[in-house]
Amino acid sequence: MVNSVFFTMSSMSYRILQLLLLFISSVYAASDVDWWESATLYQIYPRSFMDSDGDGVGDLNGITSRLPFLKEIGVTATWLSPIFESPMADMGYDVTNFTKIEPLFGTMEDFDAMVAKAHELGLKIILDFVPNHSSDECEWFQKSIRREDGYDDFYTWGDAKIDPQTGERMPPSNWRSLFEGQGWTWNEQRQQYYFHHFLAKQPDFNLRNPMVRQHLIEVMKFWLDRGVDAFRIDAVPHFFEKRFENGTYPDEEVSGMTNDTTSFLYYTHKYTMNQPENAEILYEWREFLDEYQQQHGGDTRATVGEAYAPIGVLSDYISNGTDVGLQLTMNFNFIQLRDTTTAKDVERLANDWMDVMWTKHKQANWVVGNHDNSRPATRIGEQRADMMTIIAHAMPGTSVTYYGDEIGMTDYDAECTWASCDFRDPERTPMQWDSTTNAGFSKGNSTWLPVNSNYKSLNVQRQRGVARSTLYIYKAMTALKKSVAFKSFKEEGGFAYEALTEQVFQIIRTAPNVEEYRVLANFGGQMEYLDGLTNKTMEYVVLNSYSPHRYGDKVDLSKRIYLMPYEAVVLRWVA
Ligand code: GLC
Ligand code: MG
Repeated sequence: MVNSVFFTMSSMSYRILQLLLLFISSVYAASDVDWWESATLYQIYPRSFMDSDGDGVGDLNGITSRLPFLKEIGVTATWLSPIFESPMADMGYDVTNFTKIEPLFGTMEDFDAMVAKAHELGLKIILDFVPNHSSDECEWFQKSIRREDGYDDFYTWGDAKIDPQTGERMPPSNWRSLFEGQGWTWNEQRQQYYFHHFLAKQPDFNLRNPMVRQHLIEVMKFWLDRGVDAFRIDAVPHFFEKRFENGTYPDEEVSGMTNDTTSFLYYTHKYTMNQPENAEILYEWREFLDEYQQQHGGDTRATVGEAYAPIGVLSDYISNGTDVGLQLTMNFNFIQLRDTTTAKDVERLANDWMDVMWTKHKQANWVVGNHDNSRPATRIGEQRADMMTIIAHAMPGTSVTYYGDEIGMTDYDAECTWASCDFRDPERTPMQWDSTTNAGFSKGNSTWLPVNSNYKSLNVQRQRGVARSTLYIYKAMTALKKSVAFKSFKEEGGFAYEALTEQVFQIIRTAPNVEEYRVLANFGGQMEYLDGLTNKTMEYVVLNSYSPHRYGDKVDLSKRIYLMPYEAVVLRWVA
């Protein structure tokens, strides 16, 4: 009976069955992919995303009200820049209380409601964890100044040196701050200097102190208990500084990279950055987070590190072969892209990452923009912004999008009085939701940073449902990321990428015998011709505005094809 059914099955339905089995097996294989391995991450800069109470500053209730938008555009997890109590000297990266919500952003109830709503929608919430420093207004720092029990050695303190010539007080070493020249600031009350990698209002913790580490673990636990899914870890390369047994600090050597003695690059930072202990503390946190998951169940509580560091250093953050640390460390290679970028540059930058991080750890992610860098539409060029959206999502692994880049927002260099101006303001202007007052970001009279003057033509509402708009392309790509072919990236032959010419970049994503996608992107301002790419006939499924083709058009890739200047497309083949 069974046999006869089998034998009477037409070759057609047998093929369908075969496909089904393959589909099931690839779905099975794809489910080996943990959520953070192939996610669509979206960074929210809370001050600028959505203001619910009209004070001109974005807030948690604002974010909650816009979570359905994140769902709509296919985001899987959102990372919020710091929302903790802060005097905002570095816009929240200067924390006074790590377990309190900054009143400007709302209350703990607002936070809980946001997490609940996100989870209801199937979105994960990633918080920013800032373990390198606190605000100088933090209670811990105040206690440390007073040398209170347990807090004496909580920060990076050092004795003054005396200038033998002048007899004047000098900092313990020549260390620099990334933000303001001198890295040491004198504290009159304690009669010592403290070190800060960033602003003087951001004293560096002494992470060698077990009590500091204990406090930081408790901070993580506090947020995990409130349902947070993962952490973005701030400023990893800066965690530890070299300190001698006797409490002194070695001078940095001159790098020879620049003659400008005031530049951060003037010294090597051999003693202040990328110390081996940085990786060790990440391994400790991983152990804690894994244990937490074992005890509480649920999905992997992942960490994604922020580190602008050499690839070998980044590799150790993931694992040194024995210990494991971060799940992801942000790949900032595409931050280097400029308007002169060619396909060959993209290939080289992709290889720089993949040769180490993929080969060793099967880990990839692609950051195109963030709150510390010029927006892609400005930096790489408006012609190439959609192309980069396509590429960042079509490469294997996780894509990372900065709010507003999904509609191609540009930097906005509004006039500002320089006392109140941060060099990073241009990429932090309010989200452009619609054409109404303040771009729909706030009902207030003014906003903390001015809304970009282009908001009436460039906003979510204008692009929604418009084929070939930046938003439409973004949505198409996040949807493709969920396809079998895109999920099969860890399998042999699951992906390939290369610069076919100086200007044409190609990515192939394959679920063997099921489907295949091919991205072709022309970075140049000239027409490009390509011959005999494959014997397949494929269909256009994503097109940017430079493409003369239509959705659903077919193209025979065994023949010569052409790409218009800046044309970027995704082609699909189905078995
Ligand atoms: C990270 C943040 C940056 C901040 C710095 C200090 O680099 O991305 O915005 O200023 O850390 O916390
Ligand atoms: Mg507000």
